[in-house]
Amino acid sequence: MRNAELSRRSGHAVIPSGVEPAGRRQGISLRLPRRKNFSRSANVYAPCDVLYLSIMPTTDGSQEKTLAALGVTQPEQLAPLFAEIRARFDGESSVARDEATLRQFRDAWLGRKSGVLAGITDNWLKPATPELKRAVGAGLNQLRAHVDAQIEARRMAIESGAEVAAVAKDRVDLSLPGVVRPVGSRHLIRQVFQEIEDIFVSIGFSVVEGPEIETPYYNFEALNIPEFHPVRDDMDTFYVEAQDATGARTAPGSLLLRTHTSPVQIRTMEKRQPPVRVIVPGKVYRRDNPDATHSFMFHQIEGLAVDTDITFCDFTGTIEYFVKQYFGAGVKTRFRPSYFPFTEPSVEFDVSCIFCGGSGTGAGGATCGKCKGAGWIELFGAGMVDPAVYGFVHYDAKKVSGFAFGMGMDRLAMLKYGIDDIQVFFQNDVRFLKQFP
Ligand code: DAH
Repeated sequence: MRNAELSRRSGHAVIPSGVEPAGRRQGISLRLPRRKNFSRSANVYAPCDVLYLSIMPTTDGSQEKTLAALGVTQPEQLAPLFAEIRARFDGESSVARDEATLRQFRDAWLGRKSGVLAGITDNWLKPATPELKRAVGAGLNQLRAHVDAQIEARRMAIESGAEVAAVAKDRVDLSLPGVVRPVGSRHLIRQVFQEIEDIFVSIGFSVVEGPEIETPYYNFEALNIPEFHPVRDDMDTFYVEAQDATGARTAPGSLLLRTHTSPVQIRTMEKRQPPVRVIVPGKVYRRDNPDATHSFMFHQIEGLAVDTDITFCDFTGTIEYFVKQYFGAGVKTRFRPSYFPFTEPSVEFDVSCIFCGGSGTGAGGATCGKCKGAGWIELFGAGMVDPAVYGFVHYDAKKVSGFAFGMGMDRLAMLKYGIDDIQVFFQNDVRFLKQFP
């Protein structure tokens, strides 16, 4: 294929092998190695294989044209033209770093036939109109003085060896290691959320979320916790006031920060018909004083499965599957009777102590400090959904059944990762965060 044809097809300049492009003969060309698979017979370098570093003045500078062609008629129009050429000179002068490149550079600017200043003399000065001649001469003299002085300064620098040192200083050492920019990581709580979500998603649950500002109806009443029910005492609640859409303040006691993720059970069942299988990760709030196991804000994962044929066996099987996936196949589970207004029967799930293997004795035969010798650790509350709850969401309690659970995420993370103070999750101390990259 002919070069011209290649060029036309690719839209790029095509440079014949071994031939410098015209007009850049004085320039330095850096040629990257020929690509192995490039056809030899074409006898060209692919445009992307050739990189020309233009250090010499380009031949199409303004000095190539006459002042008339440049539209210059008044002396004031000359200053920007000279300034542009001077800037070009300054920009290019740094490439003259040794005797050879200085000579090339000097020729390019001061060469008698084709130097830039010769171009100005021939194209600007000689044909200049009488009104312009003086000003062109003055500008040219100034430029020449600058060019002479700079080239002389560079010559001295090169001779004195200063330039060698400057080159050495500027050299880029590509073997130096790069700048390492520290990258953050997900918070341990977020990581554990993900771990637990993955386990439940793998057995057919989906993840839903709900609002952190709730109404007492969703947080309590629809969960079968009427006003003055003693269970409300366990959940010391933050009530909040806000502005409604009209800008008016909401009535005291009409909004609260949810004390658990259970209200999303109601919100989900209001929207969906059985079968429902969801988990709900999120933040919850209680007016607890902070200590190693309490915080006014913490995290829960709620679970809810409702269908026409869900039994207590499905319930315990699901929980056991989860606990073994999360803590390891070696752990045992057990459940004890408990009480929650929204489940019947209600249970408390325990796991065999992951620190002493369920034996109750730690290192050296001492009583295990984590389970206090019991061999079991309390994990979370759960149960079969109380039929009364179905009444609030218009499910037919005679046709559907299901189970629910609510796990304290922070507690699950603390147990698995050996953390003994919940506060470290919220202090954002990088020494802690860095341990869970
Ligand atoms: N919401 C309860 C709490 O925060 C935990 C809980 C217990 C959730 C039993 C449930 C459940 O869904 O069935 O203490």
